[in-house]
Amino acid sequence: MIKIAPSILSADFLKLEEEISSIETSSADMVHLDIMDGNFVPNITFGPMIIKQIRKITKLPFDAHLMIKNPVFFAPLFVEAGCDMITVHAETEIHLHRTLQFLKDLGVKTGISVNPHTSVDFLKYVGHMCDLFLIMSVNPGFGGQNYIKSATEKIKKVKEIREKYNFNYEISVDGGVNDKTVSEVIKAGGDIVVMGSYFFGKPPDERKELVSHIKNQLA
Ligand code: DX5
Ligand code: ZN
Repeated sequence: MIKIAPSILSADFLKLEEEISSIETSSADMVHLDIMDGNFVPNITFGPMIIKQIRKITKLPFDAHLMIKNPVFFAPLFVEAGCDMITVHAETEIHLHRTLQFLKDLGVKTGISVNPHTSVDFLKYVGHMCDLFLIMSVNPGFGGQNYIKSATEKIKKVKEIREKYNFNYEISVDGGVNDKTVSEVIKAGGDIVVMGSYFFGKPPDERKELVSHIKNQLA
């Protein structure tokens, strides 16, 4: 069944505790944490300090999407703060294979993300080392952007590679996923959909229905 990963990037930070509890009551599967450094992407968000705080109020898995340079330096801090999954961008890593091994040794699930222009052929060499492959369907940095169509073809390709090489990673799709695009994403092969503005744009009492609608739609 499809998993939903609401991104708190679009949450109301003045009500963060209520926003996170709405993720739990909606029956979504994990909390997506968009970490931005103002260097790899033109925006800055939050870091381990905030994550340590919110770790106290939920048992949901924390899916950290590191849009930062030098993720190897910061990854242990995110693990210590309570992240269960660490995703790095292929574009930041000269030695991606080594980075994935480093993350594995930290005892967390490992993920690779790619920007919209990045090809995925390299995946055949590292696909056995990752638990998650996160396809960016917008240029990273901001919530509320439009889905970039070419992501659909990439989802299919990443699924084909998984089948061909017998890999086990889950395919996650991040950016512009909403009521208009979600079925295309799921049909192409997405296992996890990240949702920021669409999920948090709904009043909290409508989020459960949104999640069950998506899960049942193409179950
Ligand atoms: C963008 C982030 C996304 C973003 C998605 O850099 O990685 O996770 O929050 O937001 P929406 O769903 O609004 O496109
Ligand atoms: Zn993200």
